[in-house]
Amino acid sequence: MIEKEKEMVKLKEDFLNFYKEDSLYQEGMHPVFGEGSLNTKIILIGEAPGYHESLTGHPFCGAAGKVLDELLESIGIKRKEIYITNLIKLRPPNNREPQREEIKNYGPYLEKQIEIVKPKVICTLGNYSTRYIFEKYGLKDKLLGISKIHGKIFSTSTLFGSVKIMPLYHPAVVTYNPNMKEILKEDFKILKKFK
Ligand code: URA
Repeated sequence: MIEKEKEMVKLKEDFLNFYKEDSLYQEGMHPVFGEGSLNTKIILIGEAPGYHESLTGHPFCGAAGKVLDELLESIGIKRKEIYITNLIKLRPPNNREPQREEIKNYGPYLEKQIEIVKPKVICTLGNYSTRYIFEKYGLKDKLLGISKIHGKIFSTSTLFGSVKIMPLYHPAVVTYNPNMKEILKEDFKILKKFK
């Protein structure tokens, strides 16, 4: 555990040396590296920080974060028991979708975070992190839009052992379409089994 902490601190230091050079960097905006338990079976991967996240430096602390908190609470999991991060670690302007170049720059930090945490389950929230993780972990041929694969479990093997990957709808969908909450709640019930 101490080892994992040391590795994550080192990775964060590397990241903090890089992010000010990145084209997404804007004065006064915080990077959102990720937070939570390094000793967890579950890692949640969002897309990119929004306005509130970049003000505070914490992932999922705005409207989508409220939904995420409710979903986690519905299965009795506390944030501090899992690790939460994003594919992109600086806010894209006006919350636009991540660009290919940004994914290429930030993806390796995410991969290293995963290698340090060594989770048993990787939950990807939304299409972008799902695509990235499926491609990195040899599941490209199984990749479909999130509406087709949400709540399904995909198995893969990694350098640190076998891992389940579960794509989920991004919690922000509930802010546009409240009916989606029930679908997310059903999918989160599956996650509970891995706690
Ligand atoms: N949406 C994300 O994908 N990540 C956050 O941290 C906040 C909103």
